[in-house]
Amino acid sequence: MCGIVGYIGKKDCVRFLVDGLKRVEYRGYDSAGIFVYREKDKRSTLVKNVGKIAELEKSIDSSVVGNIGIAHTRWATHGEPNHDNSHPHVSNNGSIYLVHNGIIENYTSLKKKLEKHGFSFYSETDTEILVNLIQLHYTGDIEKAVKEALLEVKGTYGIGVFSLNEPDKLIAARLGSPLLIGIGKNENYFASDPASVVKKTAEVVYMQDREIAVITKESVVHKTLDDEVLKKNIETIAFELSDIEKSGYDHFMLKEIFEQPKTITDSMRGRLLLEEGTTKLGGLSEHPEIYRALINAEKIYIVACGTSWHSALIGEYMLEEYAKIPVEVEYASEFRYRDPIITPKTVVIAISQSGETADTLAAIKEAKRKGAVVIGICNVVGSTISKETDAGVYLHAGPEIGVASTKAFTSQVIVLALITIDIARRKNLSFRQGYKMVKELKILPSLAESILENSNTIKEIAKKFSSARNFLYLGRGYNFPVALEGALKLKEISYIHAEGYPAAEMKHGPIALIDENMPVIFIAIKDTIYDKVVTNIKEVKARNGVVISIASYGDDEIDKISDYVIKIPDTTNLLSPVLTVIPLQLLAYYIAVEKRFNVDMPRNLAKSVTVE
Ligand code: G6P
Repeated sequence: MCGIVGYIGKKDCVRFLVDGLKRVEYRGYDSAGIFVYREKDKRSTLVKNVGKIAELEKSIDSSVVGNIGIAHTRWATHGEPNHDNSHPHVSNNGSIYLVHNGIIENYTSLKKKLEKHGFSFYSETDTEILVNLIQLHYTGDIEKAVKEALLEVKGTYGIGVFSLNEPDKLIAARLGSPLLIGIGKNENYFASDPASVVKKTAEVVYMQDREIAVITKESVVHKTLDDEVLKKNIETIAFELSDIEKSGYDHFMLKEIFEQPKTITDSMRGRLLLEEGTTKLGGLSEHPEIYRALINAEKIYIVACGTSWHSALIGEYMLEEYAKIPVEVEYASEFRYRDPIITPKTVVIAISQSGETADTLAAIKEAKRKGAVVIGICNVVGSTISKETDAGVYLHAGPEIGVASTKAFTSQVIVLALITIDIARRKNLSFRQGYKMVKELKILPSLAESILENSNTIKEIAKKFSSARNFLYLGRGYNFPVALEGALKLKEISYIHAEGYPAAEMKHGPIALIDENMPVIFIAIKDTIYDKVVTNIKEVKARNGVVISIASYGDDEIDKISDYVIKIPDTTNLLSPVLTVIPLQLLAYYIAVEKRFNVDMPRNLAKSVTVE
């Protein structure tokens, strides 16, 4: 949720820290702060401000200098976004500074303990408790004090610590919140996201849970909280700086929508076997036992949150129709707290763009506790979920920065289709059917491109409806989850109330809302249930509803019963969501822009939800 960055070296690091925060601003953006220390004159400076990082920048003048520093951008959990609650936090005696991403769950009892020792608090945060707990344990060794304090903590953390008494080092530690170390020359970094360090170094070490790192200018020593020294692998960041820049687009979200022809291609690169009419996923076939468990599963649970949950619903339709395996899709947050029935032949698939979503991670742990094989579908390479799962498939969609997920969704649908086709071909899908699907996959990027070329039509429609107060999104079959996703996109960035529904279910409730002020979006492509959807459109028109249809090229009939029509190319049923969602992403985007909202940083939301 929050983003943290740290630097230790010989150069002034203020610019690096601020730029590093900007790269992770999408994780949280209600307040930010920076602490820097200059070794040569022992000067230390703490600057914090409410609002976006641009606000923090305004408070930083030439007096803010240092060659060691820690920084933080916040998404509030404990205490409203104000100056006192912003990080870095400082201990009572003013010697220890801390930035923290995560939640200290037992902070109330720790607070009572500290109060007994005479500590007082200026903020409402759990982080201030932790920094004072470290001070309580401090007897001249900051590494030891951090370890001892963390052993008392329940909850999650990715932290960076600096002590004025030992200014030659930074301490980093993680449990449940992402953290990595960037390796430089006579300088080193820590960050919650590789995007913060990629400009400086491509070499990183991903920290795992209950690990601590002692970082100096020349070295990084990794240990467990029990003091065992670890030998860690140095990995190379899988993307380049240009991948995390807007590259001329007004917003990351627009860039990511327009990138989809490429990201769809990247998600299937090397995975299509046209000659055999099937697909191949290295992340699964390299783990034959795990993959066999999936192929022979008697039941699959797919767990996910948000947009990933919508792609999971599409996965359910695909896997049941073609791979013939019963599938249940669960919100990860529900799965983790109920008692799902896991038999030896149950497999759990977890879908997560970020690979860090706390509820999805907890659902994975719960599934593993109960003995299930767990397979991950993630975008972020090296993410916690990608490491926690038994095997998995990466999306290879590149960094997604816009808070509203777009390209990750289409890549998730692609990966689910690839898995489905491979399993189905091992069962009863014929070569001919498999071949047809793989051929459709191959041309999908160019079909997506043709929808994007038509973006001006969608922009015009957006202008007409930007003042609507409610929207209804309706679809059936594979496009019911797309209706949910279209409504979610609109809610997230334009703050217009929108609901997605299975089109036929409309008459059991939402139909009561329909009048001349209610735009209703129908996904009405020429598929097997097209006629049924047309009937639903007529039901809306009979009640004066305003109909916007997403329809197939060449379908002239739909023009007669719709007020506005966005035409798209056809593809095979299980791939259609990849195309039908694109106009809905664009519609949400253009409506939000029309309303002058900050599309990439919608209010109250965060890109990566690492708290429960
Ligand atoms: C947040 C994001 C959504 C995302 C959801 C799940 O709510 O704002 O865009 O779909 O988390 O995230 P994940 O990274 O697990 O896919």
